[in-house]
Amino acid sequence: MDDASTLLDRIIAAPDLASLEAVRVSALGKSGEITALLKSLGGMTSDQRAVEGPRIHALRERVTDALAARKDELEGAQLEARLATERLDLSLPAGDVPQGSVHPVSQVMDELAEIFADLGFAVAEGPEIEDDWHNFTALNIPETHPARAMHDTFYLAGEHDRPMVLRTHTSPVQIRTMMSQKPPIRIIAPGRVYRSDSDATHTPMFHQIEGLVIDKGITMGHLKWTLETFLKAFFERDDIVLRLRPSYFPFTEPSAEVDVGWSMEKGRRVIGGSDGWMEVLGSGMVHPRVIAACGLDPDEWQGFAFGTGVDRLAMLKYGMDDLRAFFDGDLRWLRHYGFSALDVPTLSGGVGA
Ligand code: PHE
Repeated sequence: MDDASTLLDRIIAAPDLASLEAVRVSALGKSGEITALLKSLGGMTSDQRAVEGPRIHALRERVTDALAARKDELEGAQLEARLATERLDLSLPAGDVPQGSVHPVSQVMDELAEIFADLGFAVAEGPEIEDDWHNFTALNIPETHPARAMHDTFYLAGEHDRPMVLRTHTSPVQIRTMMSQKPPIRIIAPGRVYRSDSDATHTPMFHQIEGLVIDKGITMGHLKWTLETFLKAFFERDDIVLRLRPSYFPFTEPSAEVDVGWSMEKGRRVIGGSDGWMEVLGSGMVHPRVIAACGLDPDEWQGFAFGTGVDRLAMLKYGMDDLRAFFDGDLRWLRHYGFSALDVPTLSGGVGA
């Protein structure tokens, strides 16, 4: 069986995939050695074939196996070599490259997402250029409603006489979510909103976060517990006291404005305790008309919603006093108030790490 051993030797010795392919062609190709042996079976007597047949087939099998084994080996080696050249040492220091930091608004949004994820809320999104129906009408704010004027809306030219707006709040995400998902629903929707307003506590663009729960048998009790749990986790204190004040929003009934108690610490007002009250949230039970506008039966489904300013939450937690500084892009401010990209908020490590 000399043929076999030289063939097998050549296979094992093939230094690369191209030479291996050459050996394969010379053995199993159209005019290969083994192909020739297989063809010779046709000219044999049946006695000869009974002896040679199994021998030749066995030879072909051994060669085929050896080719496959060597191919695996060579491909493995090729991959190893490639990985070795493509290695990147991520632990190398970046040198004098300017160091970025996470903006307080992004940090607070991450903290909120972390806290609400723990309570079973997913993050939902909607467009910043919104149509009038999602921003107002479906939220029980008809065209003649004074709330439209209250919002200092930026209008854009729309198509087919349908005005478009820069969304004035994140509440249209309630509508989009109820229309695209089946209840039970538990979402938060953080994002940019726009109102034509500007002073130390108002900027034309700011950030809100919306919360929405739709399920069966939901009450104001669920709303209050959720807000209390969230505010305790966010401000990282247990002495958070809430006060729900009756209020009015067209899309909730009943509606409540939520105040949280503050106290003086080292000459500064901080959240916690009860020396005074500060308004932090708008909330209420989702109005049956809003639920119906989304195609759900309000007799079957109820829920609560809340909304608040992310920038304001950041100011209260991290002690900043001018909202406009958030959007000035002043590097000194960003270095002072920014967060390390590596300190990702977690509940176990502290959200405001
Ligand atoms: N969208 C309201 C606002 O911008 C806040 C809010 C949201 C109130 C959800 C109640 C329920 O003022």
